[in-house]
Amino acid sequence: MAAQVNIVLLGLGVVGGGVAGALRERADTYSQRVGASLALRRVLVRHLDKERAVKLDPSLLTDDAEEAVSGDVDIVVELLGGEHPAYGLIRDALSRGRYVVTANKEVMAKHGPELLSLAAEKGVDILYEASVGGGIPIISPLKRDLSANEISSVRAIINGTTNYILTRMSRDGLDFATALAQAQQLGYAEADPTNDIDGHDAAYKLAILASLAFHTHIGPDDIRREGISGLAARDFRYARELGYAIKLLAVARREGSSLQVRVHPTLVPEEQLLAKVDGVLNAVQIEGDLSGRVLFQGAGAGSLPTTSAVMADVLDAARAIVQGGRPFPWRYTDEVAIKPLAELVTRYYIRLEVVDRPGVLAGIARAFGDHEVSIASVIQKETDEAAQTAELVIMTHPAREEAVQATAVQVRDLPEVVSIGNLLRVDD
Ligand SMILES: NC(=O)c1ccc[n+]([C@@H]2O[C@H](COP(=O)([O-])OP(=O)(O)OC[C@H]3O[C@@H](n4cnc5c(N)ncnc54)[C@H](OP(=O)(O)O)[C@@H]3O)[C@@H](O)[C@H]2O)c1
Repeated sequence: MAAQVNIVLLGLGVVGGGVAGALRERADTYSQRVGASLALRRVLVRHLDKERAVKLDPSLLTDDAEEAVSGDVDIVVELLGGEHPAYGLIRDALSRGRYVVTANKEVMAKHGPELLSLAAEKGVDILYEASVGGGIPIISPLKRDLSANEISSVRAIINGTTNYILTRMSRDGLDFATALAQAQQLGYAEADPTNDIDGHDAAYKLAILASLAFHTHIGPDDIRREGISGLAARDFRYARELGYAIKLLAVARREGSSLQVRVHPTLVPEEQLLAKVDGVLNAVQIEGDLSGRVLFQGAGAGSLPTTSAVMADVLDAARAIVQGGRPFPWRYTDEVAIKPLAELVTRYYIRLEVVDRPGVLAGIARAFGDHEVSIASVIQKETDEAAQTAELVIMTHPAREEAVQATAVQVRDLPEVVSIGNLLRVDD
């Protein structure tokens, strides 16, 4: 039995700092829980001289990746972020028969299957609880507690930055640019927010969740993705009048033998719990045939919540090392086809700016009829008297995406239509 488990930390930023602090401040508790002491042997950083919240012995720090991982190392904890050099360092660690703990959604979404099979080949494991939902336990429940189910859907709010922006737009009537600027001032959005607002971050996380839920590999390129920058404050107002919140929803749903996987702004009925998940919170709702509906909600980011998830994996890996025995890294066993978005059937919200004169509706109704898209309701909203235009909000009955898109093209070309303000999917 190992008396000491040697740990290398790659990265000492927001999460790495939290993990280094926990390893130091909770050393006694952790060694009791594991049955061996956890020794932090080396920490890889980019800037050796940077002022840091957590004070470590400077001799632990290195900016040389090869030096960081050399010697007697049991667990490599990767907290650098981004695809490179993280991916290469993780591969290298697994190849050398070391356990890996990572919070890296991009690496796991893009290279998960390869890294998991490498871990299995080497008799170790790669653990990634912190890669989705920060402090919310979700990877482990999918791998273990829900594994006896056939899962029919995963619906999730898994990007805190966009959820904060949407909450401010909804509650305070802010436009997108102002809400984004405030999120940046508060440190909730990065200087370059593209990864969050265009839905890439949520798509990486959905790829990870859907792969586990459906026992198959879903890559980020399988996911249809639309961001939130096209939303206007009035969309939230109108949606609310119709009984909906607007969320950047990540959805993976089984339909027969295929899967829909998509991330886009979505109208969610206000009475659903997901519609009430506001601010930087995250939530993941899973529907299993045995478990029924379960909802996980909590802090999707932040140093301490993410440390909680990383350290749980470190403790698991350390226990496996101390107790010996072969771990059982996750395996993808099923082949599931991805359903094209064009085949999605759902209800739609369409906001139009039209010329304010009698008879306008007839041409629009004809365009919907031509594509067999049935209108559930039409509401005339604000009128701009100076411009002589009016705004219409149309809700459809369930319709096929490709028919709705074809309708939108025809409607846009009508002389009485000034513009299509927005076209959003509803997820009842
Ligand atoms: N922040 C969160 O709330 C959160 C939540 C869930 C998951 N995550 C994930 O956790 C990981 C870490 O995020 P973070 O917020 O802690 O990032 P961060 O604050 O930017 O820290 C990154 C750390 O990695 C070091 N680093 C980056 N590139 C390096 C390189 N090429 N060579 C050597 N050192 C390098 C940096 O060194 P210097 O300090 O010297 O610059 C820094 O210590 C990411 O995968 C992220 O997606 C973060």
